[in-house]
Amino acid sequence: MRNVLVLPAVLFGKSLFASEFLHELPARFQTNTSNWAWVSYDSPSVAVIPGSFNRSVFDAPHKSEVSDDGIAQAFAYLNETDFIAYDPRFFDIIGPDAKVEHVQHLAYQSHEAPCYNPTTGNLFFVEWGPPGGVNGTHNWQYMLNTRNNRLQKLQTDPPTYNAHGCVIYGENMYVVTDGYEDKETGQLVKIDPKTWKKKTILNNYYGQTFLGFNDLDIDSDGNFWLTDSKSAYGRDLIDFYYPTNPTVYFVNGTTMRPKPVHITTGNANGIAVARSSSNPNTHTVYISDTGVSEFKPKSLKNPYGNRALFAYDTPHGGVLANPRFLNNPISYFYDGIRASKNGYLFAGAGDGVDVIDPTSGLTLGTIRVGGGENLAVSVAFGEHEMWIVGRGGVWHVGNIKEPLARDW
Ligand SMILES: *[C@@H]1O[C@H](CO)[C@@H](O)[C@H](O)[C@H]1NC(C)=O
Ligand SMILES: *[C@@H]1O[C@H](CO)[C@@H](O)[C@H](O)[C@H]1NC(C)=O
Ligand SMILES: *[C@@H]1O[C@H](CO)[C@@H](O)[C@H](O)[C@H]1NC(C)=O
Ligand SMILES: *[C@@H]1O[C@H](CO)[C@@H](O)[C@H](O)[C@H]1NC(C)=O
Ligand SMILES: *[C@@H]1O[C@H](CO)[C@@H](O)[C@H](O)[C@H]1NC(C)=O
Repeated sequence: MRNVLVLPAVLFGKSLFASEFLHELPARFQTNTSNWAWVSYDSPSVAVIPGSFNRSVFDAPHKSEVSDDGIAQAFAYLNETDFIAYDPRFFDIIGPDAKVEHVQHLAYQSHEAPCYNPTTGNLFFVEWGPPGGVNGTHNWQYMLNTRNNRLQKLQTDPPTYNAHGCVIYGENMYVVTDGYEDKETGQLVKIDPKTWKKKTILNNYYGQTFLGFNDLDIDSDGNFWLTDSKSAYGRDLIDFYYPTNPTVYFVNGTTMRPKPVHITTGNANGIAVARSSSNPNTHTVYISDTGVSEFKPKSLKNPYGNRALFAYDTPHGGVLANPRFLNNPISYFYDGIRASKNGYLFAGAGDGVDVIDPTSGLTLGTIRVGGGENLAVSVAFGEHEMWIVGRGGVWHVGNIKEPLARDW
């Protein structure tokens, strides 16, 4: 006889089924504040799924086609959860009071570049690319007043075209763009959130155009890390053919002098910078490659393309050293990544936001956005709350135990 855990058939009014798959939750998480599941390889039928099973690398685990009824029920339950723990540490990070709310229902198209301003309570974000905008081009952005949940469209002065990534540093917002049509190539711009005045602060690499920026982060010394990607030309936002392969640039925040630090035949996408745990005077840089997204002649997701998350040290300024392959996502690919105050990585990963241990690369758990067509793209942090933007709109995750916003 196998020593298995059998869950009660009914737990706080929610029907749960006897399943050998789901690990019993810690008592404090057996509430109806949120739906939780714990998937642990300690459970016999997690390590060895009875019968047949199959899914693509893009599908969430619960979408695996299984022959066993008990497993099928467990997977149907996973699709009703708000949080799935893959590691006991996830319970400590999220805490029992956390709650996910779908606060803005928007189109099933990419929402990106979330930036939370704690002073005003405003969340800036964008609708990105086709089929929205004018042939995919957007010359406006969204602003969500998180205190009353009022959403408005805004335009900077002069307009910012095809914003794709945003970070707040000091009093200002720093936004990277893809450029548009044959008129403008990717730029780094500075926006004053009080006046919405926009100033371009970098638009070329010694006369070479950028491909179209995807995202950025700013380190604690005020230097920029920009990912320059295939997506803009690939989705017909700009007419400029790729001048080079996708590249990550380090930009000295004092001199604005750019330097390539990483180049890939995949794609440069999310980037996050954290203080190094071994030497707080230096940083660790995390880069997600999304070569999995192919564009021309046809936009498609190729499972043999790159989905890797890499970590690098920065021993002296803008040089990446000591690359570590951290993880390949459990499913989909990592889009936007952010590092929390204590260095945990939060990455938009399709079915939800994956929380990743920055040293081992283990996925500790997933914060889910409701399944179906909903898709998590990127996140912005408050103190103990965060916002997720993606296909289907904006989600607020409140009462998170771990401090999220960093101190710069
Ligand atoms: C669960 O929800 C019901 C009604 O929605 C409420 O009466 C009950 O107190 C809740 N239980 C817990 C443990 O939160
Ligand atoms: C497994 O799933 C993949 C992706 O959905 C599919 O292409 C493949 O045919 C499936 N394999 C089997 C043996 O069913
Ligand atoms: C949109 O793109 C199509 C096809 O390239 C073009 O014919 C049309 O003029 C464009 N519309 C605008 C408003 O730019
Ligand atoms: C940025 O440039 C300034 C001025 O040249 C220099 O002092 C500083 O060391 C540079 N920072 C990095 C990280 O390279
Ligand atoms: C998961 O749940 C969502 C929301 O209820 C639903 O639209 C979707 O069809 C479900 N997915 C599967 C695979 O059952």
